Amino acid sequence: MKYKFSSLHGSQKPLKFVELTIRASTDQGDVVWEPFGGLCPGAVVSHHFSRRYYGAEIIPEFYKAATERLATS
Ligand SMILES: C[S@@+](CC[C@H](N)C(=O)[O-])C[C@H]1O[C@@H](n2cnc3c(N)ncnc32)[C@H](O)[C@@H]1O
Repeated sequence: MKYKFSSLHGSQKPLKFVELTIRASTDQGDVVWEPFGGLCPGAVVSHHFSRRYYGAEIIPEFYKAATERLATS
């Protein structure tokens, strides 16, 4: 698959933005649900700030990139 964007995902959200929204709306131990994950920034933030996380991404290439991102974050 080819993309015209510099990032793998054309709608990738900044981690800091996702961090602010998750920290403002949840407490440690809460569940974060990210149904349209893309590169799953919510997973990275949830891992770092002790939230439980469930997400979904339908495109295998994005899912694979998201799992690699989480493993190295
Ligand atoms: C706006 S993007 C999310 C971008 C993400 N916030 C990020 O920063 O990487 C929406 C994503 O939802 C995925 N998607 C669309 N329909 C879906 C479905 N039915 N189930 C799971 N994922 C889906 C798309 O493949 C796309 O990657």
